[in-house]
Amino acid sequence: MSETSATGDPFNSEFAAPGGLPPARLERFGLDNIPADTLQGLQALYSAAYHNAQMYEDLIADIERQPDVFQLLVARLDDQPEIVVGAEVIETKEHPFIDYLGYPPVHGKRFSVLPAFRSRGIGRQLITEGRRYAFEDLDLSVIFGESNEAGALSMYGREGSLYFLDSIKNSSRRNSPEDNVRFFAEFITNPLFRRYRYPQGDGIRLAYPRDEQTAQFFRQHGYVSKDDLLAKLGIDTSP
Ligand SMILES: CC(C)(COP(=O)(O)OP(=O)(O)OC[C@H]1O[C@@H](n2cnc3c(N)ncnc32)[C@H](O)[C@@H]1OP(=O)(O)O)[C@@H](O)C(=O)NCCC(=O)NCCS
Repeated sequence: MSETSATGDPFNSEFAAPGGLPPARLERFGLDNIPADTLQGLQALYSAAYHNAQMYEDLIADIERQPDVFQLLVARLDDQPEIVVGAEVIETKEHPFIDYLGYPPVHGKRFSVLPAFRSRGIGRQLITEGRRYAFEDLDLSVIFGESNEAGALSMYGREGSLYFLDSIKNSSRRNSPEDNVRFFAEFITNPLFRRYRYPQGDGIRLAYPRDEQTAQFFRQHGYVSKDDLLAKLGIDTSP
């Protein structure tokens, strides 16, 4: 095994990869050209995403639905090219519980990095390329998202996505809206909760706007940045 590759079982979520991993190589696929071995790699990736993940089954359902927009991004490392280390899909999917405010319902979905390769910037590489594809190739203004994963929500916020505040306030009917916001702030700042998943509900909604003008529009419609949300609670985010 080379110096830059991870040792141990990359599908084991307790395993920590050593530093120094090179950036991933990204591949893109449309609906009709996903190779069989890539699908196999995705199955392995998604079954390791989190406990009882159904992400592979959801991907196959997405493909069968033949959405207008569909682009699969796959990350591999040059020294272990047979493994799919990460993936994301940019696709049209209209959720009835989301108000798209007049924008096309294009989402970032099926986002996952193998446990052994997390926190090495592969997730950031994937979402950066997804944004480039959506904004430059498709000329969209915003990418939507929704997630029940505290770790992913923390990362999305760090990477500039805005949270829909009402979806945080209403995340549990058993707590007051104010408490739900406080708990959310804890989930996205305390590393203990990286693997915490909201047990029910439609998830926390997100929007990643292409530019400041679009961001301002979303802020006027109830969206908030991670920094602003934490600052309002008096939580210092400076490094
Ligand atoms: C979310 C995810 C794709 C990020 O991939 P990544 O390659 O680790 O992303 P990056 O290295 O660019 O960023 C790492 C950040 O992800 C977040 N993160 C979320 N879950 C994490 C985990 N289990 N381990 C490490 N980091 C995690 C942290 O905020 C971390 O920031 P930090 O390294 O500064 O502490 C990856 O953690 C993952 O696959 N999680 C499980 C599947 C999932 O929740 N998918 C999202 C569905 S909406």
